[in-house]
Amino acid sequence: MKLTRLLLVLSAGSFMLVSGSCNGEKSVSDGAVEKAEKLVAQMTLEEKIGQMSQLDLGYFRDQEQLKQAVRDGRCGSLLNFLGTEQVNELQRIAVEESRLGIPLIIGRDVIHGYRTIFPIPLGMAASWNPEAVRQAFRISAIEASSHGIRWTFAPMIDITWDPRWGRIAEGCGEDPFLASTLAAAMVKGIQGDSLDDPTSLAACAKHYVGYGFAEAGRDYNTTWIPEPLLRNAVLKPFHAAKEAGAQTFMSAFNDLNGVPTSGNEFTLKKILREEWGFDGFVVSDWASVTEMVNHGFAEDEKHAAEIAIRAGVEMEMATTSYYDNIKALLDDKKITMEQIDDAVMNILKVKYRLGLFDNPYADPEAEKKILDPAFLEHARSVARQSAVLLKNENAALPLDADKISSVAVIGPLADAPRDQLGTWCFDGRGENSVTPLKAVRDLMGEKRVNYVQALPYSRDRNKAGFAAAVAAARRSDAILFFGGEEWILSGEGQSRGEIDMPGAQSELLEALAATGKPVILVVMAGRPLAIGRELELSDAVLYAWHAGTMAGPAITDLLFGKESPSGKLPVTFVKGAGQIPFYYYRNNTGRPATDASWTPFDSIPTVNPQSSLGYRSFHLDYGFTPLLPFGYGLSYTTFDYSDLTLSSQVMKMDRTLTVRAKVTNSGEMDADEIVQFYVRDRVGSITRPIKELKGYKRLRINRGETADVEFTLTASDLAFFNGHKTVTEPGLFDVWIGPNSEEGLHDDFILE
Ligand code: NOJ
Repeated sequence: MKLTRLLLVLSAGSFMLVSGSCNGEKSVSDGAVEKAEKLVAQMTLEEKIGQMSQLDLGYFRDQEQLKQAVRDGRCGSLLNFLGTEQVNELQRIAVEESRLGIPLIIGRDVIHGYRTIFPIPLGMAASWNPEAVRQAFRISAIEASSHGIRWTFAPMIDITWDPRWGRIAEGCGEDPFLASTLAAAMVKGIQGDSLDDPTSLAACAKHYVGYGFAEAGRDYNTTWIPEPLLRNAVLKPFHAAKEAGAQTFMSAFNDLNGVPTSGNEFTLKKILREEWGFDGFVVSDWASVTEMVNHGFAEDEKHAAEIAIRAGVEMEMATTSYYDNIKALLDDKKITMEQIDDAVMNILKVKYRLGLFDNPYADPEAEKKILDPAFLEHARSVARQSAVLLKNENAALPLDADKISSVAVIGPLADAPRDQLGTWCFDGRGENSVTPLKAVRDLMGEKRVNYVQALPYSRDRNKAGFAAAVAAARRSDAILFFGGEEWILSGEGQSRGEIDMPGAQSELLEALAATGKPVILVVMAGRPLAIGRELELSDAVLYAWHAGTMAGPAITDLLFGKESPSGKLPVTFVKGAGQIPFYYYRNNTGRPATDASWTPFDSIPTVNPQSSLGYRSFHLDYGFTPLLPFGYGLSYTTFDYSDLTLSSQVMKMDRTLTVRAKVTNSGEMDADEIVQFYVRDRVGSITRPIKELKGYKRLRINRGETADVEFTLTASDLAFFNGHKTVTEPGLFDVWIGPNSEEGLHDDFILE
């Protein structure tokens, strides 16, 4: 078995061979700057404006108009074009028939796979496995580049605390450290070990910045983020993406502290260029330049173009305010030719680094790799590692296919090939999906699977199918309920006010639970749902997200014990929308709650004397704890943590501190454990979070074995922005090594 797997992996070619080298660096010194400079010197203003314009297919009346635009150098980039033949023909026109022969850069949203679809990024984040994520993005790049795409609008690395926000599905969750490690892995996977490799795509870190803090989780909404929060959390993954060599950034839709992010000199110029030294280019989001008029920040599109160009948005996506106004803005001296030249330089540098001037064409042979068996096997493995076991009572899982005579497979998502692919999936096809129903049938044989969909889609409230579902459950040894959300309920523009299980799914679950048969709930969703009631109704709950093409086999592997679940939550799960925001690295408040201090809603006497003494920070109805904490996830085995030791109880500012522990697999099954390392800075010049993740490791620990884990801290790991400057402050620090953000072995040390 092991040998077969190894051969499959090797047959995937370059994706296993890529090293973790920092992409882009090699190319920075390969003459791209000099070449771009020379070219800019020969360009007309029209040609320069063309390079700063990215257009969508919908812009053109017909193919002829499109070809003429490319010939005229009207646009330097196209998005949403694909197909080897079409791309190659347009590139031929660009390099052979345009005056200076500048190739196009073709962009597309390849967010969690191209044709082989991986779990939604939030799901991948639950794997806490940067190497597996890097490989997933490498595969996506190999597939997408075979159709001429050399730029993807990924990774999406918006930190969010709000599961109402539909785009939570596309990011890595709430934590800056986890998101930063994954952002770097994604960039490395997308860009490969050398940008000029034909399978490398330029990555695009988006949405810069703060988009995930949309008020009330309503997409595109206003964001207010104080600078300490911006720098200590929201910017972190973007910095990591830049350090990993990301060639492009995308400015966002939102206004940030009153200034739209597509016209924000503070974030785009001061932070990105001056502080971080970013030397790729910035593209706007779709129409985010002209939307500054709606924001009330620009008088008209001309003014919007001026603001965006001055702020450093070098390419405009989809709208034409640059094309329409740059000349006039120069004549009016609102912008300078130097600003235009800098923008064009940055765009051309990336085109040079991608090797587009040497070979802009896609190799028609390359598309044979699409849906390569090794790619599908990796998608299955990532989907397996992404699923989080939230409950497992009375050892309801794993099921033993040899011991049970039949299972009932019920629910709207058991056989929903498109839904399991999730949001932001332009090119994945339902016909390539293997659904849970198919996978369970393949394993058990059709006769032993009693399938009743009962609810055709997740929002359905019609109970007509309930009786058949209950009858199927009664005939079976166990119930597998596949519920959650259809793909269209998360993603861009798909925010929800309530985040409970939609439709009549809970009532169906209740009817099934009443049969007395073990109920195993598999949630397939694009966001963390408030599933308190469903947790109670079920014996076991596996949170599988929208897990992609191979969701079915991956989930089946876990349900039937081929592998233990090992994912851990990359976001806090709340009890209800009213608890939002709830994130683990919150501040302590002056009145933190304890069990003893909480007065539950129902225990308040109807006549209560007014008092302001001794109240604590909680909700009467929700209490003060989340439904499930960040980092949480169960396994079929048990892991015991012991022997926490520190290399010293005192850490000097210029030295490191090593924290060690032992983790023993004390259960019955070989499995992975994600070991987490948290720190708390007890007293700061601004209030500090009650815990911050500073390290993690996914370890394979066979039953009976003990792993030694260690994490090393430096002073810079403890640094934070205090509103004035970035500081590491001496004093007392707590450390924990544990299985999630609420449990763990604890000690402390002094930093001096
Ligand atoms: C708008 C989305 O916000 C962005 O993420 C995406 O890359 C662009 N549209 C292009 O499709």
